Amino acid sequence: MKTQPTDLQYLPLDLKRELLPHHVAVIMDGNGRWAKRQGLPRIMGHKAGVNVLKDLLHCCKDWGIKALTAYAFSTENWKRPEEEVEFLMTLFQRVLRQELREMVEENVQIQFVGNLSALPQALQTEISRSMAQTQDNRSIRFTIATNYGSRQEILQACRAIAQKVQEGLLKPDDISEEIFEAHLYTAGVADPDLLIRTSGEMRLSNFLLWQMAYGEIYISDALWPDFNRSEFHRALSAYQQRERRFGKV
Ligand code: IPE
Ligand code: IPE
Ligand code: MG
Repeated sequence: MKTQPTDLQYLPLDLKRELLPHHVAVIMDGNGRWAKRQGLPRIMGHKAGVNVLKDLLHCCKDWGIKALTAYAFSTENWKRPEEEVEFLMTLFQRVLRQELREMVEENVQIQFVGNLSALPQALQTEISRSMAQTQDNRSIRFTIATNYGSRQEILQACRAIAQKVQEGLLKPDDISEEIFEAHLYTAGVADPDLLIRTSGEMRLSNFLLWQMAYGEIYISDALWPDFNRSEFHRALSAYQQRERRFGKV
């Protein structure tokens, strides 16, 4: 995870360490538009986006944020042209293979959420390897949502819980928020405090519907390949101005 030397290597002085989000989630949007503006095919935007994600992960580590979740591929993204889907799957596989050693060295814990069993076998192999080799790492928890859809996640949790009820392992009255959460892909991970979506779009696109019940949302106008530490600084500044009330007065 080598990054360019930058003047934002350390937490900017105007940010309060004690008010940093513990968990940041990102909807990395705008790769296609970025490429189009450069007169390039859409896939070049995805390629450029990889380095941006790498630097954001590095930045979270540098600034003391302990969890980052990135939306890489939604259950709806299969509807894209076959070449684009294929390119993305191959890209994920290649990047994982190339970056794993550095992730291990940097003590990053890699996690994937989504319906992973529907991904190409070669990608599943890289995913299993990366999760197994980094499971005890603790510098930052890096979660990649791939073939992820929140509605599907909620439905599979319902099915698993219903099965337990049918087998007599659980009573309907026992189904609490904690039990429900334990059946989501994100079991064991605290909800995001801050969700950033790039490219100016103001929607969740089936991302973390349950988990974002009280998370703060920040929309950046930057296209994902242009998102950098200055933009992230802006997002965190805005977050620190917010008053999180959680229903109280
Ligand atoms: C986000 O960028 C990347 C993925 C969904 C994989 P897009 O590909 O959605 O870029 P735009 O929104 O078309 O510009
Ligand atoms: C959301 O972006 C999915 C990812 C970033 C992986 P999309 O570009 O697919 O979302 P919509 O279609 O604009 O809502
Ligand atoms: Mg998009």
